[in-house]
Amino acid sequence: MADKVRVAVIGTGQRGPAHAREILKCEETELALVCDLDEERAKRASDEFGVDFALDHRAVVHRNDIDAVSIATHTRHHAGVMRDAAAAGKPFLVEKPYADSLATGREICELSEQNGVVAMVGFQSRFTPFAQQMKALAEQIDLVQTHVSLQRGFFNPQYFFPEHYSGILDALSHSMDLALWWTGASPVEVMAHEQCGLFKPDKGAVEFAHILARCEGGKIVCMTGSMAGIKMQNIFQMAGLRGNISAVDRRRIRFVKHQGFNEDKSPIDLEEGEWTGEGQQVTDMWTHFATCVREGRTDVAPGASLREGLAQVAVSEAAYQSAKEGKAVRLAL
Ligand SMILES: NC(=O)c1ccc[n+]([C@@H]2O[C@H](COP(=O)([O-])OP(=O)(O)OC[C@H]3O[C@@H](n4cnc5c(N)ncnc54)[C@H](O)[C@@H]3O)[C@@H](O)[C@H]2O)c1
Repeated sequence: MADKVRVAVIGTGQRGPAHAREILKCEETELALVCDLDEERAKRASDEFGVDFALDHRAVVHRNDIDAVSIATHTRHHAGVMRDAAAAGKPFLVEKPYADSLATGREICELSEQNGVVAMVGFQSRFTPFAQQMKALAEQIDLVQTHVSLQRGFFNPQYFFPEHYSGILDALSHSMDLALWWTGASPVEVMAHEQCGLFKPDKGAVEFAHILARCEGGKIVCMTGSMAGIKMQNIFQMAGLRGNISAVDRRRIRFVKHQGFNEDKSPIDLEEGEWTGEGQQVTDMWTHFATCVREGRTDVAPGASLREGLAQVAVSEAAYQSAKEGKAVRLAL
C-alpha cells in the first residue's frame, strides 16, 4: 500500500464531491479517482478534483491501485456497489442509511463479515468531540432514557420519495445512530407517528417523525424530527438512575451525576458539570477509516460497523410500518 490510502469516490451527485474534498484534505488519504454512471457528473467531478474518472464501479473495485472505495450513491443504489466491493474484498465506507431495507442490509452485512472486509457506515457525527463526550457520560449515569430532536430546514428534491428513509428520516438517521450508540443497547420494538406529504402531497416523503424505540434492558430511545425546523435548536437529553445529561447544541453539555435520591428528594453525592468543545473535524472519520484499511481492522469502533448501521435501518423501516399500521413493530435483528 502506498504512503496514503488511495480512495475512489463512487457516486458524484450531491454528497460524493464532499467526500472527495475531505479525502483530499485528510493527510492519511489520497483521492484515486471519481466514478459515476452519469458521465456528465463523473466528468464534472474529474475536472474539479483533477483525477481520472470511471463510469463502471465494477471495474473500480477490482483495481489493485485502489485501496478502498467511498460509496456515495443514492441509498437505494448502495447495495449493488457494496455487494461488488465486499465480493472483491475491497474496503469501503458507505453513506448512511446504508441500505434501503433490513433484508438487503443484513445480506450485505453478512457477506462483508464472511469476507472479512473492512466496512464502515459514514456516520461522521460519531467523530465529533461532542458525540464522544456524550458517549463517555452516558456510560456513567446508569442510562434509562435518551431523547434526540433534530429540526432541519427544507430538503433537496432527491429526498422526496415515499420510502422509510425519505425526507427527514434521511437526516434523522444520524441522530438515530447517535442515540442508539449512546444508549448501547439493541432496539427490540418500535412505535412511531409520522406525517408524510404535508409540504409536498404528491411526493409522500416523511416530513415529520416521532419515533419511540424500546431497547434491550428496558432502555428507551425517543427520536423526533422535522423539515420545518428553521431557526430551531436541536435537543439531546439522556436520563439515568445516576444522573442526567443535556445539550441544546453540539458545543455545550450540562450534566449531573449522583448516587440516587434521599427520602427528602435530595440527590446523594451530587456532582454537576459542564463540557464545552469545538465542532467537527471532517477529516477525523477519514483518518480513522484509513487506519482501519491499513491495519485490516474489521472492528471499526468508534466508527459505525454495518451491524450498527443495520440497527438504524431496522428502526427506520419499522417506524414507517408502525406509523402506517398504527401499532408497535417488533424487531428481529
Ligand atoms: N453523511 C451526510 O451528512 C450526508 C449528507 C447528504 C447525503 N448523504 C447520503 O449520501 C448518499 C448520496 O446522496 P446524494 O444526495 O449525493 O444523492 P444523489 O442522488 O445526488 O447522487 C447519487 C449519485 O450516485 C450515482 N450512482 C448511482 N448508482 C451508481 C453506481 N452504481 N455507480 C456510480 N454512480 C452511481 C448517481 O448517478 C448520482 O450521481 C445518500 O445515501 C444520502 O443519504 C449523507
